[in-house]
This record gives sequence, C-alpha cells and structure tokens, in this order.
Amino acid sequence: MIKNVLAIETSCDDTSAAIVTHEGFVRSVISANQDKYHAVFGGVVPEVAGRAHTQMVLPIVEECFKGSNISWSEIDGVVVTNRPGLVGSLLVGVVTAKALAQAYGKPFIGVNHLEAHLLAPFLSDDSYSPPEDFTYPYIALAISGGHTQLYLVEQLGRYRVLGSTLDDAAGEAFDKFAKMLGLGFPGGVQVDQRALSGDPKAYDFPRSLIHEDNFNFSFSGLKSAGQRTLQALTQKQRQQNVADLCASYQEAIVEVLLAKLNKACAHFNLKKAVLTGGVSANSRLRKLGQLWADKNNIQLVIPPLRYCTDNAAMVGFAGIQRMNLGERSDQGLGPSPRVLETDFIYENS
Ligand code: KG4
Ligand code: ZN
Repeated sequence: MIKNVLAIETSCDDTSAAIVTHEGFVRSVISANQDKYHAVFGGVVPEVAGRAHTQMVLPIVEECFKGSNISWSEIDGVVVTNRPGLVGSLLVGVVTAKALAQAYGKPFIGVNHLEAHLLAPFLSDDSYSPPEDFTYPYIALAISGGHTQLYLVEQLGRYRVLGSTLDDAAGEAFDKFAKMLGLGFPGGVQVDQRALSGDPKAYDFPRSLIHEDNFNFSFSGLKSAGQRTLQALTQKQRQQNVADLCASYQEAIVEVLLAKLNKACAHFNLKKAVLTGGVSANSRLRKLGQLWADKNNIQLVIPPLRYCTDNAAMVGFAGIQRMNLGERSDQGLGPSPRVLETDFIYENS
C-alpha cells in the first residue's frame, strides 16, 4: 500500500510541492505564486511561468521535506499534474517528478489537475478537517482563472461534466474587469475587496444563461457590458464609483454561479455541494453560498483557501488513491494541454 507521496503541481502559475497520506492528511505543503513576475504584463505569460517554475521547483520540494520531518525513505511514490495546463509549465513538474522518482527508485503517476480540484474537499491537516459525514456523491463547482465547470462527482474516477463556460472562466471575468479598472493582477481579490463597501444593485450587469435549462455559463457578455459601462464614465467617475462598480459586477458572477449550482443540486436531488478553485475565495460567493445552503438544507463544503487555489496537496491525494488502485505512469509520460477523453463522462456522450 502507498501511504505517503510527494506531489508536485506546476500546471499554471503556482509552483507547489506537498507530502500527503492516503487518508488525505497533508503532512506538508509549500506553494509559491508567481504574481510578481506576471503583474507587469497584466496576466500570466506562459514563457515567464515556465522559467519561474524551473527556478523554484527544486527549492520548493526541498522546503516541503524540511517542513515535514519526513525523509525520502518514507515516501512511497511521486505524483505530478501532467494535464491540463500550460505545456511549458506542466513540463517542468513532469520532468522533475520523473527524475526524482527514478533517482529514488519510487513509482510515479501523472494526474489530471481538475480531478485534483474535485477531490480537494477531502484534504485535512492540523487545523482543518472536512465534515465527518462528507462523502460521494456531490455536486462540485470548479471555478478558477482557467476553468468554470459544474460536475456530478459520483465516486473516485467517475466525474460527470454537467456544464462548462462557453467562453471566459469566472476568474478571467474578474481579472479582466480589474484590469479595465486598473486595479492590478490578479484582479479577483481586488474586485472582492473594493466590492465590500459597494452597492451590488448600483449597476445592472447581465446574468447570461441564468434562466436557460442547462448547466452552462457565459461571461463574455458580462465582460463587454463592463467595458461599455466603464467607457461611458470619466476617469474621475470610475474612481468615485469603483466600489459600486465592483460590487455590481461581482454580484452578476456570483448570482449566476449559485443559480447553476442550485439547479444541479435540485436536478439530481443532491444535498451536498462543493466550491473549489481560486474564485471560491470570493467573500460574496462564500456568504451568499452559505445562505443558499442553509436555506436549502445543503451541506456546502468549501475547502480552506490553501486547498482551493492551485496546490500540490490535492494533486497528491488524487494520485495516491489512483496508485492504491494499482495505476502507475511510465517514464514516457509527457505534459498535455488537454484532458484525456477518459478523464470525464460527458452528459451528451
Ligand atoms: O485556482 P487558481 O488559483 O488558479 C487557476 O486559475 O487555476 O484561480 C485563480 C483565479 C484568478 O482569476 C483570481 O482572480 C481568482 O481566482 N480569485 C478570485 C479571488 N481570489 C482569487 N476571484 C474572486 N474573488 C476572490 N477573492
Ligand atoms: Zn486550478
């Protein structure tokens, strides 16, 4: 049995290493974001991300061991995200994991980053445990800078994709609006903070697809509406109204996300839901999400932020469970920008 793994995550712009047990207990996790490198460009630059991963990955693995009092002799396997993501970023993690596995004579496995997000609610550590009765099946909304997808998580390895964004991801919608307002990168947290003192009803932004009978999302209309609204204002008016603008724009995103989550829970008659991915850090989403859950008697699990944003702990947990089913990757494993056809079950397939 595989009891402890070292996991590495480098799929986008966070470099992370973790040591995780088969029960999902995180013995150590070290994550470093690259925001300072990308901020000047106003978004993630793939070449810059790849280079930064190259510089950071080994020191982070070392740091991860130091923080855990664990030596390589206790590690039974190595896990790495190999899909989907930026190929140049994934490559750094995959090459590092393969080299470490070979050097220390350990088995290894490449996992799907999105599967890892879906399993994040099971992680625990010295200061956090999920509710004891929390288990499959559940509805999960994975919302980040690159993804906005709604899943029915039936069990380990069986993930039904109910719907996705047809254009921009929710995090992208936040980031682009922040950029238009000159608030800096990454923008989600900036919009969240400004919105705290704003009126969510001050501006009327579109809630695309909210009444459509499906689980898809679309944020490009909102983005354009945001742009038009800002263009109609002077610089001074934008500054004076920044809180109201952020609160109203954020409200449009949050309402749509919760409406679709509610639709999925009702459709499958499930009383368990998970929010995961960087956007689940949003304070308005957390607040309205909890109110919705309380009102509808739904068990809503939102993993702590360190396990919601990109991190190697969730990757380790996905990999260790698959390894304990006997799955392994070989040294031919490479990075892939896309998921495998067999990773998910699609509703219309
Ligand atoms: O999961 P994540 O760390 O990385 C990936 O994109 O995979 O998510 C990052 C995204 C960014 O778009 C960021 O603006 C957004 O999550 N985000 C937020 C908040 N914190 C991070 N969006 C809204 N409100 C926040 N508080
Ligand atoms: Zn992610």
